[in-house]
Amino acid sequence: MVEVRLEGVSKVFDGRVAAVRDIDLTIESGEFMVLLGPSGSGKTTILYMVAGLYKPSSGRIYFDDEDVTDVPPMKRNVGLVFQNYALYPHMKVYDNIAFPLKIRRVPEDIVREKVKEVASMLRIDHLLDRYPWQLSGGQQQRVAIARALVKEPRVLLLDEPLSNLDALLRLHVRSELKKLQKQLGLTTIHVTHDQGEAMALADRIAVINEGKLQQIGPPRKVFDSPYNTFVAGFLGTPPMNLLEGTLDREEPVAYVKGGEVEVSEDLFVKAKKLGVEEAIVGFRPEYTRITLDPPGIPGRIYTVEPMGKEILVVIEVGEEGESELVRVVTDYTAGSKLQKALSSESLVYIRPIKEYVRLFHPESKISLEYL
Ligand SMILES: Nc1ncnc2c1ncn2[C@@H]1O[C@H](COP(=O)(O)OP(=O)(O)OP(=O)(O)O)[C@@H](O)[C@H]1O
Ligand SMILES: [Mg+2]
Repeated sequence: MVEVRLEGVSKVFDGRVAAVRDIDLTIESGEFMVLLGPSGSGKTTILYMVAGLYKPSSGRIYFDDEDVTDVPPMKRNVGLVFQNYALYPHMKVYDNIAFPLKIRRVPEDIVREKVKEVASMLRIDHLLDRYPWQLSGGQQQRVAIARALVKEPRVLLLDEPLSNLDALLRLHVRSELKKLQKQLGLTTIHVTHDQGEAMALADRIAVINEGKLQQIGPPRKVFDSPYNTFVAGFLGTPPMNLLEGTLDREEPVAYVKGGEVEVSEDLFVKAKKLGVEEAIVGFRPEYTRITLDPPGIPGRIYTVEPMGKEILVVIEVGEEGESELVRVVTDYTAGSKLQKALSSESLVYIRPIKEYVRLFHPESKISLEYL
C-alpha cells in the first residue's frame, strides 16, 4: 500500500489545451479517493498521469517517497480499469484476468491460483470459461476489476467503472467495490461525474472543474460546507439553491428576491468583517421549509414532483422577466394546509433553515466560512 502524491501537476495537450492545472493532491495509503467533476474537467487525464500513460507537462508524482514521474506504466504496478472496461474480446474471462500475469512471465500454476482467488473474491469464478460477449455488463465490469486486482497493484485506478451499468446493478457493484477496497486496504482513485456515487464511496472527495482542484474533503464536509459556488451547485440532487442577496446592516438577515433569509450570527459577523454587503445566498433543498406566511422568500409553485417518501417542490421567485427557480425537498402531511396550497398555484414563502444557509463572496464565489 502506498501514498500517492501529486505536486503541482499540470497537463497541456498539443501546447494549448490546459486539461489539468497545477494540482496538489495527496491520497493516503489505503484511502478511497473519488475524483468528481463534470465531463471534460480533467479527471481521466489525472488518472492516466498517475498510471503513467500520460507524462505531466509539469509537476511531480510520488508513490510514497519514490518519484515515479518518469517511471513507465509497467513498472508502476497500478491496476487500471478503463472508462469502457476494454476487455480483450477474443480471450475468455480466464485469459483476460490472467493477462497481466502472463506478460510478466509468472509461472502457470501461480497464475491459475491467483486468477481463481481474485475471481472468487468478485464472484465470477463460474464465468471463467466464457467470452466477454457472453457476459452481462455487471459481470464484464467485475472481470475488468479482477484483471486490475490480480497483479496485486500498489494503487487501484478506476475510471467511471460503473457508468455503463443500469441503476440497480450500479448500486450493487458499488457496494461490492467499497467492501472489497476496504478488505484489501488498497489505495484507490475512483473517477466519476456522479455525485451520488462519490458520496457513497469516498473517504474523501476531490472536486475538479476545468482542470483545477476546487475542494477536497470528506463527503459530508464537501456537501455541508462547499468551498465555492461551483461545488455548491454541483453536489446534491438537486444541488444547492444560489441566489443573489443583500445583507442587512444591523440584523443577520439577507434580502433575496423581495423577501428575506435569516443567516447565522457567525456568518453575519464574518461578512461585516470582510466588508461584504452583497453575497450569493446558498441553501440546500433539504434544509429549507415552505410556509404559507412570511417571513421568507415569496414565490409561486411551479411544479410538484413526487420522489418517493418526499416531494420536490419547484418554486418560481422574483419579478417576471428575471425570475429564477428554487427547489425544496419536503415531506408534508397529506391533507394539511400546505398540501392544499401546493396543489394550487398559490403564493408560498421559502424559509431556509438558518444554520444551513451559506454565503458566498460575490466576486471570488468562495464561501465566507473559508475567508
Ligand atoms: N489526448 C488528448 N489530446 C488532446 N486533448 C485531450 C486529450 N485527452 C483529453 N483532452 C482534453 O482535455 C480535457 C480533459 O479531458 P479528460 O478526458 O481528462 O476529461 P474527463 O474529466 O475525464 O471527462 P469525462 O467525464 O467526459 O470522461 C478535455 O478538454 C479534453 O478534450
Ligand atoms: Mg474521463
